[in-house]
Amino acid sequence: MTNVAILGFGVVGGGVARLITENMKEVTRLGGDGINIKYILDLRDFPNSPFADRVVHDFDIIASDPEIDTVIEVMGGSHPAYEYTVKALRAGKNVITSNKEVVANFGDEFMAIAEEMGVCYRFEASVGGGIPVLSPIINCVGQNKITEVRGILNGTTNYILTKMFSFGDGFEESLRDAQERGYAERNPDADILGTDACRKIAILGALVTGKLVPTENIHTEGITGIRKQDVEASARVGLKIKLLGRCIIGESGVFIMVAPFMLPDSTPLSTVSGVYNAVEVVGEPIGNVMFYGQGAGAGATASAVVGDLMQIMRSGRNCAQPIMVKSLDGVCDFDDFKAQQYIALGGVGAEQVREVFGNVQIISEGEEIAFITQAMREGDVKKKLGALGAELKSRIRLI
Ligand SMILES: NC(=O)c1ccc[n+]([C@@H]2O[C@H](COP(=O)([O-])OP(=O)(O)OC[C@H]3O[C@@H](n4cnc5c(N)ncnc54)[C@H](OP(=O)(O)O)[C@@H]3O)[C@@H](O)[C@H]2O)c1
Repeated sequence: MTNVAILGFGVVGGGVARLITENMKEVTRLGGDGINIKYILDLRDFPNSPFADRVVHDFDIIASDPEIDTVIEVMGGSHPAYEYTVKALRAGKNVITSNKEVVANFGDEFMAIAEEMGVCYRFEASVGGGIPVLSPIINCVGQNKITEVRGILNGTTNYILTKMFSFGDGFEESLRDAQERGYAERNPDADILGTDACRKIAILGALVTGKLVPTENIHTEGITGIRKQDVEASARVGLKIKLLGRCIIGESGVFIMVAPFMLPDSTPLSTVSGVYNAVEVVGEPIGNVMFYGQGAGAGATASAVVGDLMQIMRSGRNCAQPIMVKSLDGVCDFDDFKAQQYIALGGVGAEQVREVFGNVQIISEGEEIAFITQAMREGDVKKKLGALGAELKSRIRLI
């Protein structure tokens, strides 16, 4: 019997306990052993839960119990998740998490301790919820020359953008709808400002480059500035707007970012709608591979967490662990990132725009002018906008 402890009995923790209980036959067959949820750590008690008798409030009970093989941290946040993870790994226990914040901040440290202690640290559910994406990247595509990993990494923002495109609603209206449906939190900042996607691209980037770029060094933009007019303009030229996390590996180095991008209607990522997530890996000789599915929710996320547990049980603690170090070495300055840009300006006409930006495609002209530039360096676009001195209404890069 494999004894596990779950830290945090919320949406994901509850889902994990349910999956293990309801699918005991499947997990026993796949894992090669039964699973016993010996402890559940939470701040609260759950007197009406079938797990009421497993609830503890002191992590040391778990850390010091030699019967506990694996700790499943699904509390969220950096602290005390960091302290509990270090303690569990140092006590010789495997750790599994769905907590992208703690992985993005301390994943390199956890991996090094796991290596030293001969245990596994796994975090499949931290990116893409239920979509198996990290394991395939580690196990199946690493032999390719990866040139980019990019994805729709946040279901809330994808829902909002889908609503704006499908119904012509504005940002605020679409956010309210997402909140009413339970897709967005009452405080939605981590989603709409791009913070959540930033943590996820840091993790994905670390898997394909070996470098865990600190989130504060990742250029991050959310979707709060996207207007109805931008949606209409992009639809007019056959483009959709998606919030993407991108890690691009080129000859000059690595560009890593989160920002809204306009992409052609026909591309696989542009067809991902609603709360769904997708991650696309581009490499040689494999070409483009896309992983798609539910990026959140109790059941989907629990599936990824328990999948990690299955791998640990089957591998006998001999998991394929990625190596990553926190580093900015080879990470390019965002000002050097080159892309075509959609720009909307007030107070200038086509002639002035062409004088400064050269050959542009004008999409609309009236109260404001909207146009698409040739591919340009970020730094140059900023300078040109400064020279023009017009009122910047919107700016979105193209892919
Ligand atoms: N929900 C999803 O669909 C999803 C998908 C992918 C990844 N994730 C990630 O998974 C993690 C958990 O998410 P969730 O949605 O399950 O969160 P949640 O519903 O808020 O559950 C977290 C649970 O942990 C408890 N907790 C918080 N701090 C604690 C502490 N110091 N000691 C003991 N228990 C503590 C909370 O108790 P209180 O309620 O009393 O504070 C709550 O019961 C997060 O990192 C999240 O980003 C979630």
